[in-house]
Amino acid sequence: MEIVVSGIRPTGNLHLGNYFGAVKSFLQMQNEYNCYFFIADWHSLTTRPKPEDIVKSTRTILAEYLGCGMDPEKAVIYIQSDVKEILELYLYLNMNAYLGELERTVTFKEKAHKQPDNVNAGLLTYPTLMAADIIIHKAVKVPVGKDQEQNMEMTRKFAHRFNTMYHTELFPEPASFSLSSKAVKIPGLDGSGKMGKSDGNCIYLYEDPATIRKKVMKAVTDSGPVTSNSEKPEVIQNLFTFLEIVSTKDTYNYFNEKWDNGSIRYGELKKQLAEDIITFTSPIRERIEEYSKNPDLLDKIARQGAEKARASAAKTLKEVRQIIGFRS
Ligand code: TRP
Repeated sequence: MEIVVSGIRPTGNLHLGNYFGAVKSFLQMQNEYNCYFFIADWHSLTTRPKPEDIVKSTRTILAEYLGCGMDPEKAVIYIQSDVKEILELYLYLNMNAYLGELERTVTFKEKAHKQPDNVNAGLLTYPTLMAADIIIHKAVKVPVGKDQEQNMEMTRKFAHRFNTMYHTELFPEPASFSLSSKAVKIPGLDGSGKMGKSDGNCIYLYEDPATIRKKVMKAVTDSGPVTSNSEKPEVIQNLFTFLEIVSTKDTYNYFNEKWDNGSIRYGELKKQLAEDIITFTSPIRERIEEYSKNPDLLDKIARQGAEKARASAAKTLKEVRQIIGFRS
């Protein structure tokens, strides 16, 4: 099976947009590939998280991904900072990464702009750490969002450079597997085109039915169709997009007909939509709660994942050391 690696930044809670944008692809990939999915906690140090938040945010994201159905029996699920082998490869890659190319990276420029008083070397060498994450397992495919395209190019460049420099074919040049092209784009509840983490715009997977009902009922609409068979304005299309994703075909058709003949009542639509979202998220929410209540289980899963990831990483590193010229 082909090797897949992807890193997840431990930033907050998962919402429906994340689920359909990324998690769903991961769930599919774990059946079809030899997957390594990890929580990128070292990467998060570029923005100085508080020590007490590190374990907490890692556990939160782990519980949520497991709650969604990510399966440690199918994929190797681990925490980056448990696999120290990555750091050694990071060091070797940094020896052949040039200041100019690192400075030109768009993500670096953006971050440097965002935190001008903390333009640290970790930010600059983010692409080399990401490359180490990926090539330590000799991955050939990497599911990432479009914003990671340049980092992926850097990964290929560093892998290629190592191979050329040492006359070896050790590292494959991994292809990105664009998540955004496979994903259904989930609209926001505030009328915006995309679900994001702002208030009133998103539904978190952990949220209880009462909260979901309240949020959906508040979703932005308009004053109703003016003529029959008219085109739906964006805010209304957004609600229908939701119906397409979580409701049955019958429900969708029912409201679509009512839209077309001008008899639609948004209150009725939203009520149904809220129930269908709740039906979809409830089993996920319950599993998230189970995992969150059980830090020992989370730690055990992370430990077992780390063992498997380290075995794979150590094997690559041994080859790297020999190729570079270190003898054990
Ligand atoms: N840079 C990625 C992001 O911001 C996260 C990440 C870190 C990653 N290491 C990775 C993704 C390795 C894929 C493979 O989303």
